[in-house]
Amino acid sequence: MIGAVAHVLLILPTSTYRAADFLEAAEALGLELSVASEEAVPLVDSDRFVEIDCAHPEESAERVAAFAVSRPIDAIVPVDDRGVLIAALAARRLGLPHNPPDAAAATRNKAMLRRALARGEVPQPRFGLAGVDGTVGVADQVGYPVVIKPLSLSASQGVIRADDAAEAAAAEERIRRILATAGVDPNQPLLVERFQPGPEIAVEGILYGGELDVLAVFDKPEPLDGPAFEETILITPSRLHPEVLDEALVVARRAVRTLGLMEGPVHIELRVTDAKPWIVEVAARSIGGLCSRALRFGLMGTTLEVLLLRHAVGRPKPELRRETRAAGAMMLPVPRAGVFRRLEGRERALATSGVTDLQVTVTPGTRIAPPPEGDRYLGFLFARADDPATVERSLREAASHLVVEID
Ligand SMILES: Nc1ncnc2c1ncn2[C@@H]1O[C@H](COP(=O)(O)OP(=O)(O)OP(=O)(O)O)[C@@H](O)[C@H]1O
Ligand SMILES: [Mg+2]
Repeated sequence: MIGAVAHVLLILPTSTYRAADFLEAAEALGLELSVASEEAVPLVDSDRFVEIDCAHPEESAERVAAFAVSRPIDAIVPVDDRGVLIAALAARRLGLPHNPPDAAAATRNKAMLRRALARGEVPQPRFGLAGVDGTVGVADQVGYPVVIKPLSLSASQGVIRADDAAEAAAAEERIRRILATAGVDPNQPLLVERFQPGPEIAVEGILYGGELDVLAVFDKPEPLDGPAFEETILITPSRLHPEVLDEALVVARRAVRTLGLMEGPVHIELRVTDAKPWIVEVAARSIGGLCSRALRFGLMGTTLEVLLLRHAVGRPKPELRRETRAAGAMMLPVPRAGVFRRLEGRERALATSGVTDLQVTVTPGTRIAPPPEGDRYLGFLFARADDPATVERSLREAASHLVVEID
């Protein structure tokens, strides 16, 4: 790529939070940019746009490849997980570095993921797959408490804990209603997993030719015991014992290798039960929502998106480490279902010591709900401090000043 401007195609699913951050990074790197999306975007000229349909990855990959005939592409970057399979398929056609499509596909289907990890004997919760007539039977076999979940949703939508057969039956009914409302086949099989207790962490990294470069490990200090799993606070560096963290990275690397993921971002969620790490989920994307804004690398405060685009266009791995300070993000919890009107208390929240930013990501008038029904975040609060405990206090204090008005 020396001497030439690299041409990057960003895959932007319609509902992504990440478009602005990736566009800014592309600009900062001076990249030539095209966009593949489900609807025309005002971000680029029409001759720089490819229409895709995330529900049809093969066909979409074909369109991307056809587009590349007239405008050769150097890298394809899915900005979140709905684009990962399209990116893998299109990159394979074009001979660009990519994840094997079956590895990308496994990260998009929770049952495929569990089966693949089981083949590699990667530590993970016991699980079973339930058809329309069998969730309770499968849950009985897996052993309570269980977590029941759809195969393909995200943001904890439709993920419910059940402690006995009655709760499992109720959870199944609720999940099938959520699926129907989301426009997904309500009779799809459901995954039933053993509830894995203990603290949860998220490992953020980039794969360079199969080698995982760990960029950050986040703690999730809010207890995630269900019945619904609303993620709120993420703080890095992790406060877990260094030996436990080392072991978590060993397990994370094993999971990535077992799946065969090779290139680009990975976001790996683990639970630590009795000092032993277990895989909750592996995604071939970077951290969700706007949370990547908690991360800054090197003296210049390089963003995660810049690191991802640099990797995508084949630049060598930079020796940039995350800043030494602690940082965190809080996904603002949705207090109840209804129509979002406004968020009060912004000024006081922003004036809280350590707080660096507050972004509201739903527009007034939008119908919102907490998980398991809801699928979107209200907004994001960010803080930085010398240590993780102070970041956590700042986020909690700032959040206590916020009042969400919902009709
Ligand atoms: N087997 C389990 N044991 C304990 N907790 C679980 C289990 N499965 C899921 N959870 C909890 O539910 C959360 C969401 O589950 P999961 O990651 O499978 O779904 P998701 O909707 O794809 O998540 P997201 O998109 O938010 O990463 C997990 O982060 C974890 O807190
Ligand atoms: Mg998850």
